[in-house]
Amino acid sequence: MTIEKKAYRAAIVHSIADPAEVVVEASYEYFEDGLMVVENGKITAVGHTRDLLGSLASDVEVVTYTDALITAGFIDTHIHLPQTGMVGSYGEQLLDWLNTYVFPVERQFADPGHAAEVSDIFIKELLRNGTTTALVFGSRHKESVDAFFTAAEKLNLRMIAGKVMMDRNAPDYLVDTAESSYVDSKALIERWHGKGRLHYAVTPRFAPTSTPEQLTLAGQLLTEYPDLYMQTHISENLKEVEWVKALFPERKNYLDVYDHFKLLGERSVFAHGVHLCDQECERLAETGSAIAFCPTSNFFLGSGLFNLPMAERHKVNVGLGTDVGGGTSFSILQTLNEAYKVMQLQGAKLSPFKSLYLATLGGARALRLEDKIGNLHEGTEADFVVLDFNATPLLSYRMKQATSIEEKLFVLMTLGDDRTVSETYSAGVLVHKR
Ligand code: GUN
Ligand code: ZN
Repeated sequence: MTIEKKAYRAAIVHSIADPAEVVVEASYEYFEDGLMVVENGKITAVGHTRDLLGSLASDVEVVTYTDALITAGFIDTHIHLPQTGMVGSYGEQLLDWLNTYVFPVERQFADPGHAAEVSDIFIKELLRNGTTTALVFGSRHKESVDAFFTAAEKLNLRMIAGKVMMDRNAPDYLVDTAESSYVDSKALIERWHGKGRLHYAVTPRFAPTSTPEQLTLAGQLLTEYPDLYMQTHISENLKEVEWVKALFPERKNYLDVYDHFKLLGERSVFAHGVHLCDQECERLAETGSAIAFCPTSNFFLGSGLFNLPMAERHKVNVGLGTDVGGGTSFSILQTLNEAYKVMQLQGAKLSPFKSLYLATLGGARALRLEDKIGNLHEGTEADFVVLDFNATPLLSYRMKQATSIEEKLFVLMTLGDDRTVSETYSAGVLVHKR
C-alpha cells in the first residue's frame, strides 16, 4: 500500500477537554501558525509549524490556508434524514407539527428512489456545513436507512443511523408492528453495523409512538448486539410529557419509561431533555447516557430552554443536535449561535471554548468516539474543517477587529454558517469544497 501523506498549514484549534471540568486554558490547543500531518486518513502530528515543518520530508505536499482556521469536523448528535424536505414548516408545536408536516413527508420514504435522492441532498448539506459525523433518524422504512448508509459508505463517512420504530399513535400508513420493527432493525444491523465507518442505532421514535412490546424488543436488540447505539426523544414539549404520564402511569418519570425497557446506556442519546428533572439527569449520568441539545428546534417548536448548567452539574454527557427539520439549520455554527442565546435567556454564559467542545469533542464523547473523532490528536481520523475568515464581507471586516482566538471563535459561531466552511475533509479526503 502506498502511503498517502499530506500536511495542512493554517491556524489550528481543537478541543481537548470539557471547560466545565478543567480551567478553560486547559480545554483546548491552539496553534496560530499550525501544521497538521495526515497519513492514510489519520492524523500523525499536529503542532506549531516551527516545530514540525523541519522534520517533514521534502516531498510531502503542504496545503496552506490563509485567514482560515482548521478544527475537528463537527458532530451532529441529532438529526432527521426524512425531514430535509419540510424544514421550516410554519406555526405548530411538537405534536401538531408531527401530524401536520412530519408524518406525511416520512411516508414518502417507502420509495427507495426517493430515499436515495434525499440521502444525497442530506449528506451534501451535512458536508457543506462541516458536519462529518451525525446520529441520524431514518423513517420507519428500512429503505430510508439503506439509502442513507449506501450514500455515506461511498464517501467513507463515519455515520450512525437507524430506522424509526413506531407501532402506535401515528397514521396507519406509517406504523410498523413490534415484530416487524424488530425484524427490519435486525436486518439493517446485520447489513450495516460495523461496516466501514458505519454504526447502527436502535431508534424508537419516542415513548408515545411505541407499545411496551416494541420497547421491549428495542431493549432486546441492544442486548443481542454489542456496541449498538440507541436514539430517541425525551421531554421536549410539556404536552408530550403529560401524554407520556397518561400512557405510562406506573413509571415515576419520562426517563423511567426508557429505563424500564433497558434503553439507557453508554451509547444511548436522548434528544432535547428540555423538561428533565434532577433525578432524571442523575440517572442519565449514572448510566453514561447522553443528551442531544437542540437549540434551534427548541426555539422553533416553542419547546423551551434546555438547562445545560443542570446537565453539567450532574455530569451528563451533552452533544449538540441540529434536529432538522424541527431545527431550522444544518449549520452547527448557527446552532451554537442559538445555544448562546438559550444560555443568555437563563442568565448563564456559553463560552466559545464550551461551544467548540459541544460541537466536536463533546459530541464525540456523547457517542463514545473520542478516540477516533472530535479532536485532532495524533492517531485520530482526519475528519476536519477549514473555516474561512473572509467568507462574507461582514465576517471579514469583523474578524480583522478580533484579537484573540477566543474572540475569533465567538465571531465565527455568531456570524458563521455554511458559507464559512470552505473545505470539509473526511478520513483525509476532501469531501466538500465551497
Ligand atoms: N418527537 C417525536 N418525533 C419527533 C421528531 O420527529 N422531531 C422532534 N423534534 N421531536 C420528536
Ligand atoms: Zn428529533
